[in-house]
Amino acid sequence: MSGSGGPAANRPAANAATPRHYVVAPASRVQGALQVPGDKSISHRSLMLGAIAEGVTRIDGFLASEDCLATLAALRALGVGIDGPADGTVVVHGVGLNGLRPAAAALDLGNAGTAMRLMMGLLAGQPFDSTLVGDSSLMRRPMERVAQPLRSMGARIDTQAGRPPVMIHGGAALRAIDYTLPVASAQVKSALLLAGLYAQGATSVLEPAPTRDHTERMLQQFGVRLERRGARVTLAGGQRLTGGAVQVPGDFSSAAFFIVAGCLAAPQGLTIRNVGCNPTRTGLLQMLELMGADIRVQPHTGHAAEPMADIHVRASSLRGVRVPEPLVALAIDEFPVFFIAAAAADGQTVVTGAGELRVKESDRLAAMAQGLTTLGVHCELLPDGLCVQGVGGAAGGGLFGGGRIDSHGDHRIAMAFAVASLRARSPLQIDDVANVATSFPDFVALGRSVGLALQEHPG
Ligand code: S3P
Repeated sequence: MSGSGGPAANRPAANAATPRHYVVAPASRVQGALQVPGDKSISHRSLMLGAIAEGVTRIDGFLASEDCLATLAALRALGVGIDGPADGTVVVHGVGLNGLRPAAAALDLGNAGTAMRLMMGLLAGQPFDSTLVGDSSLMRRPMERVAQPLRSMGARIDTQAGRPPVMIHGGAALRAIDYTLPVASAQVKSALLLAGLYAQGATSVLEPAPTRDHTERMLQQFGVRLERRGARVTLAGGQRLTGGAVQVPGDFSSAAFFIVAGCLAAPQGLTIRNVGCNPTRTGLLQMLELMGADIRVQPHTGHAAEPMADIHVRASSLRGVRVPEPLVALAIDEFPVFFIAAAAADGQTVVTGAGELRVKESDRLAAMAQGLTTLGVHCELLPDGLCVQGVGGAAGGGLFGGGRIDSHGDHRIAMAFAVASLRARSPLQIDDVANVATSFPDFVALGRSVGLALQEHPG
């Protein structure tokens, strides 16, 4: 078996060793058009499903970020032939459902929670042992939410007090379960569906609120028969996947930083092209529209597995809102930048039912409350949310202070505060930003291209 103390097989890049920070000067407007890199969730899934499919899978628009490269390296370590990435294209030579081979060492998934949790599902039914590790953030994140239901399928998995390293003991015969998710989590749902491919019988997952359905869509694209009835999704074990072409749309979660930037500071409009607009991802648009945002979504025609659109945003004065809880899971990764919109709005914004934000790459509720307080914005940390007192006046002229922000090594906190510079009266220094490369390697260049006065420095 792979030893937990042994060398990691596949760490693609050691970003934590090279700390970096941003300096962002106040800028008053953004404008123009841009295209954000490929979707992270879909890129991870295309590699995993391509790996266990029969035949070749060509992935276009692949996100070559550290998180997705960690998944790619892990699959190579499990014996899968993968070409690229080259110019956004990756070619996966599928090994079939039972073709994965034991890795020579622990699989290092870096900062990527999605990679670790989905790999747990994929590896639970293999005949060999695997060990999963990650960076200091991932080593603190809860894994029992996946391990527990996998154990009830017959898997043999150890965690260390609920956290990685995750040791998966091979050779377990999996049996199907009918599982009700205690928290709305696409990662847990997806892990169970992947394990379900290796289980005897039909595995069902019932979700308390809709979460991103990329796994279901892609499984169907690869020829898996899957039934969706209301909030329950069911698949029979033993089905073979057939490789093919995957087109990865732009990542809505990366577009989100520019959508909010446009709401705050694009009097002449800002366009983000080719954005994945799967309705299980676009809760932020509804939240901003409730606040009075001026957003126009122009869907692309065609029948791709994942819907795409161009998004046009124009600055408007925003008002505070109470966010309806059913929208929370549909905007789960967008709250850091949504809180910047809330801070710029007129009046109070209240978010509740968002306790999951405390167990992301950082405690995002605490990190945002701390950073907003530094900027002079009043906010109250709730057990499962945040109450933000927006600075926007009737003329929309309120401004934040500047200062030094700790991103806590969380890519989305770092990028959210870069957007806050559009309403700051003095420069911001944002520390510990190297992990932006986990999801959005071109953020600085793209931000600068539309008007953010953003610079990145070592240290
Ligand atoms: C993801 C699901 C979400 C999200 C994460 C990506 C996925 O996590 O926050 O960034 O790709 O399935 P949860 O399942 O923990 O909500």
